[in-house]
Amino acid sequence: MGTFKIIDSVYYVGVQDWDRELFDEIIPLPQGTSYNSYVIKGEKIALIDAVDPSKKEIFLNNLKGLKLEKIDYLISNHAEQDHSGAIPDVLSLYPMAKVVTNEKCKNFLKDLLLVPEEKFIVIKDQETISLGNKTLKFFLTPWVHWPETMVTYLIEDKILFPCDFLASHIATGEIFSSGDEIIKVSAKRYYSEIMMPYRVSILKHLKLLKTMDIGLIAPSHGVIYKNPDFIIKAYEEWVSEKVKNEVVILYVTMHHSILEAIKTLESFLVDFQIPYKVFNATKCDIGELAMALVEAATLIVGTPVFLANPHPNISFLLSFINALRPKTRYFGLISSYSWGQRIEEQVKNILANCKLEYFPIVLAKGLPKEEEKVKIKELVENILKKHTEDEMVIK
Ligand code: FEO
Repeated sequence: MGTFKIIDSVYYVGVQDWDRELFDEIIPLPQGTSYNSYVIKGEKIALIDAVDPSKKEIFLNNLKGLKLEKIDYLISNHAEQDHSGAIPDVLSLYPMAKVVTNEKCKNFLKDLLLVPEEKFIVIKDQETISLGNKTLKFFLTPWVHWPETMVTYLIEDKILFPCDFLASHIATGEIFSSGDEIIKVSAKRYYSEIMMPYRVSILKHLKLLKTMDIGLIAPSHGVIYKNPDFIIKAYEEWVSEKVKNEVVILYVTMHHSILEAIKTLESFLVDFQIPYKVFNATKCDIGELAMALVEAATLIVGTPVFLANPHPNISFLLSFINALRPKTRYFGLISSYSWGQRIEEQVKNILANCKLEYFPIVLAKGLPKEEEKVKIKELVENILKKHTEDEMVIK
């Protein structure tokens, strides 16, 4: 993409990563991602965030393309390496630059990248730095999604630079968005993995953003939002306590006993008009699974007993879900065994961080028979009862 002018004196200098397939070595990136960085040319010059080290050559060329004689301030909103990894290279190219960040971020950057103490200017919450004719104001926003995260606001031009906060996983040649469904999906993919465990903190920081006069939101992944309300409203939906009348089914089948049970479950969900999505744990896009759990009220897991445990693919994904801590309220387990039956306790142990209400387990020896099919019907009746009591079902 190279560099381009966002408005007078503010330039995009980031890098699109069209080919990246996984984020954090776990979440598929069907649309790639980007590492955004911005130059603000006042009487002094500021650079907002750096990029992933894998793209540092392109990034440094972008900076050289602007023919900057100096960088005065390198603002580091977040120490994670996809935004900080190229900081040492920027400091080599522009040795006069000071890294402006908060105390916690400074300490991370010293440990992660060996940036020396004398390179830092440490700011506090709501402190400002003058670029002469422009002013940067910093707001500490801890746990979005690390303890040191902060956002930077360019007062005169009403631009918010929130780094990971409100970001989306998409590589694009059209970096401005007024808001559309494709961007909402790529932002939801981002939110579900990175932000969902920190919903409570994020809600607090959204309230802060709503007190600010924001014209543009320029995150450090994905698009720049011309309509800030679009992404703020989406986040408000995702972090709220409200869940939707939806069931997520996650299963593995080895000898088709669980598959038979899941087919039965699906037929009752259809009969009771409860929307659902099915994920096969051996091959699903786990980003899609995480996105489905952003708002679904109920999770049902189907697993055979595998060597006296849940199937390993299910154990792995339940550990992932436990780390994401979705707002899902209800949980049901369908299992099939040949000789070991102690599975419910193991599943509950893996999900220890999730606040779930558990429906009675449906446990079959081998194929589900009439008795288990009746229990699956009762499970769906329980789901409908809970979703109705919680006023999710529109009659
Ligand atoms: Fe985009 Fe937390 O790094």
